Amino acid sequence: MNFSRFISAISKARMPSPIREATALVASAPPSLISLGGGMPNPGTFPFESIQIKAKDGNQFTLQGKDLSKALQYCDSSGIPELRAWLMSLHKKFHSPPLLQEDNLGICVTSGSQDGLLKAFEMLLSPGDNVIIEDQVYSGTLAILKPLPVNLLGVEVDGKGMKPDSLLKVLSKWDPEDALDPNSDIPKVLYTIPNGGNPTGATATEERKRKIYEIAQRYDLVIIEDDPYFFLQYQKTTAPSYQFLDVDGRVIRTDSMSKILSSGLRLGWISGAKPFMERIVLHQQASVMHCSTLSQVLAVKLLNMWQMEGFERHLNSIQTFYESQRDHAISSATRWLTGLAEWNVPKGGMFLWIRVPRVADTYEMIMRKALEKEVVIIPGGCFSVSNDVPSSYCRISYSTSTPEVLEEGIRRLSDVIREEIG
Ligand SMILES: Cc1ncc(COP(=O)(O)O)c(C=O)c1O
Repeated sequence: MNFSRFISAISKARMPSPIREATALVASAPPSLISLGGGMPNPGTFPFESIQIKAKDGNQFTLQGKDLSKALQYCDSSGIPELRAWLMSLHKKFHSPPLLQEDNLGICVTSGSQDGLLKAFEMLLSPGDNVIIEDQVYSGTLAILKPLPVNLLGVEVDGKGMKPDSLLKVLSKWDPEDALDPNSDIPKVLYTIPNGGNPTGATATEERKRKIYEIAQRYDLVIIEDDPYFFLQYQKTTAPSYQFLDVDGRVIRTDSMSKILSSGLRLGWISGAKPFMERIVLHQQASVMHCSTLSQVLAVKLLNMWQMEGFERHLNSIQTFYESQRDHAISSATRWLTGLAEWNVPKGGMFLWIRVPRVADTYEMIMRKALEKEVVIIPGGCFSVSNDVPSSYCRISYSTSTPEVLEEGIRRLSDVIREEIG
């Protein structure tokens, strides 16, 4: 793959910071190395003596002395080596990336997957570019893309994920050969949320993913696989990821610890072919320098204590929890919304995407009438790629409410819809 074709002028112009490079060198150097470089504060001046962590399952540890100093210090921009090594083994286990066999898989720890997404788009997009994106889509992605001078080309999504026929329709304006012309405006980037989609709840099937990947190969597209709900899939057998299918290096994955360890840790990671990841790390050097060392140390200490079996046990408990929440949401929706609304049953994630066929645009109904009845739901229009397009959808999140509260919220929504349609 010609990686250079995809990299924006801004990203190409990024140069390594000599100080950040020295920090990475010191982190992995033997104790005999004398470092008079860098600009690290002396950790002896920090006011913290120790940090004690106790997990719900009884695992506990105390950070003190050298370990604590390290956790409170600057670190390598791509993340602490222990966490990166752990994430590599995670990818090996769950994605078997072909890129790993070629020693061409890079990983950079980010401040949540949102940070990784923003950096991926910055690396890949230039003014005037056409970008392919699921419609409806995560509002955080729209918050990144809408202010940019790029054109967003929406592709339809149904319960099985992005629709290949809709993608081909969008691409029909171009010939695959246009990808060889540096002056062509053929899209270079495709963004998708493959599992437990936000807002659609959709999980892409293997058949869909293979078709989309094949189209991406034909049109030479980079796929951004934004997958924070990967570990929130309820089924035991799941479709392989795009990274698993990626023999070319055209898939960039963003992952998140937000839904599995804690969203407040602000831990995520981005992975993909090394020529891309090197650019992301340079952006990281220039922006936040690195993701919180303390968050990384806390996470990796716990993960190393759990080992892969403990981590998988934890994942199972999360999946069971969200699956049961999904079941409560579906039974409440069936009870109160049958005949008023339609929905697909999510196979992962935390969202129920509801269509109210007799309401052309849910915005007013949700933002005024539902609020009057004291229920907060998000109108579908907030996830539309184009502004001012009416949406008959709304999104319910079933992550934090008890079954009783969830049911009462859905009952109130049914009242609101009934009043609206008269
Ligand atoms: C689809 C999607 N991508 C990315 C994110 C960002 O997650 P975080 O930055 O917490 O990892 C979210 C958060 O809800 C999301 O739903």
